[in-house]
Amino acid sequence: MLETAGSIVAGQHAIADLVPRIKRYGDFKHVVIVTQPSIKAMGVIDRIVTELSQAGITSRCLTDVKPEPTVDNIQQAFSSIASEPVDLFIGIGGGSVLDAAKVLSVLMTDPVDVMSLIGIDRISKRGIPTVLIPTTSGTGSEVTPNAIVTIPEQELKVGIISRHLLPMMVIIDPVLTISLPPKITAATGMDAFTHALESYISKKANPISDMFALESIRLISGNLLQAYHHGSDLQARESVLLGSMYGGMALSSAGTAAVHALAYPLGGKFNITHGVANSMLLPHVMNFNMDAIQDRLGHVACAMGLQVGTEGGKGVSEAVNRRIFEWTLEMRIPQNLRAFGVKDDDVLALATAASKVTRLLHNNPKPMNIDDIGAVYHKLLP
Ligand SMILES: NC(=O)c1ccc[n+]([C@@H]2O[C@H](COP(=O)([O-])OP(=O)(O)OC[C@H]3O[C@@H](n4cnc5c(N)ncnc54)[C@H](O)[C@@H]3O)[C@@H](O)[C@H]2O)c1
Ligand SMILES: [Fe+2]
Repeated sequence: MLETAGSIVAGQHAIADLVPRIKRYGDFKHVVIVTQPSIKAMGVIDRIVTELSQAGITSRCLTDVKPEPTVDNIQQAFSSIASEPVDLFIGIGGGSVLDAAKVLSVLMTDPVDVMSLIGIDRISKRGIPTVLIPTTSGTGSEVTPNAIVTIPEQELKVGIISRHLLPMMVIIDPVLTISLPPKITAATGMDAFTHALESYISKKANPISDMFALESIRLISGNLLQAYHHGSDLQARESVLLGSMYGGMALSSAGTAAVHALAYPLGGKFNITHGVANSMLLPHVMNFNMDAIQDRLGHVACAMGLQVGTEGGKGVSEAVNRRIFEWTLEMRIPQNLRAFGVKDDDVLALATAASKVTRLLHNNPKPMNIDDIGAVYHKLLP
């Protein structure tokens, strides 16, 4: 099964037609634009505000969504906008902004505590319509039924999962990703690659998710290093952004697995950004999974452009993992958790927290117990 966005517009400068496209969907009068200061500085928001105004639509900007937003951050953002009418949200930013916009839209129709929405299918009705416009090539949040929130008091990152979070419209415009600095290009691009790869080896993988996963792997493998080294290459940016959206489609259908389960405690306890945590964990979790996924990795290797044939086997699996590890080195993604303040003594608590992310661990192709999880964290504490 795949439930996704109502409509998707993709292409260079696709955002230029935003207002006429919105008008086709309804007589919207009061828009809230959810974003962050770094995106506002790009000038694109000012253009949207002017075009909305020329079309007789009033708009307000909410710019205080924090990276990897907390429950409180979203709750406060809601309080700051709730007293005036809103009939459409436009979320423009990375996954943090898109996730916040999705949750805000459902709070407008059902103003409950954000905490009560955490889990699967806890949202009772559709929110205000949303238009989601990604400016990172990473989460695929624009097409997923997920929103990830942080609970600092519990040192946790958790998911709100509901089809009611899916947007009315998505605009995929690679021009908006040109300004991404190399470090964010690397981390978010590896997050997108992880979505595709974990979906492909997930126990819930199916023909629909496989199609999106393999195309995502092909697009990201062929273009991420180019986008990292030459950020103004629009063609490379477009491929990675499409790859990121396809990764979101794949994970919506098949789910991510142990890499994401182990990444969440690193975000919740040590504020390690989502893409960096995934990139560090990916080769080690793949190594753990290796014997269970050898027959799946032949097609992955081909999609990555490795000259190894589609049959799989140990040598192919190792080649896939070696290439992933080479990317992390070339893009200077850290490989040592000590740099983030993690100590050997923290492993038990991290492994305990990760072992509770059963929603994702159940998708992993090989069962992972608390000792297996601890062993992976220890690999990152050389
Ligand atoms: N909903 C989902 O399906 C899903 C999937 C994976 C991850 N997530 C969540 O998404 C969040 C991470 O999102 P992200 O990786 O996109 O990072 P992000 O949204 O936190 O953005 C990272 C940084 O990049 C900046 N930025 C964004 N676009 C920019 C641009 N074009 N130019 C310059 N700077 C820009 C942001 O302001 C921010 O400082 C995490 O909370 C993660 O758990 C959600
Ligand atoms: Fe992710």
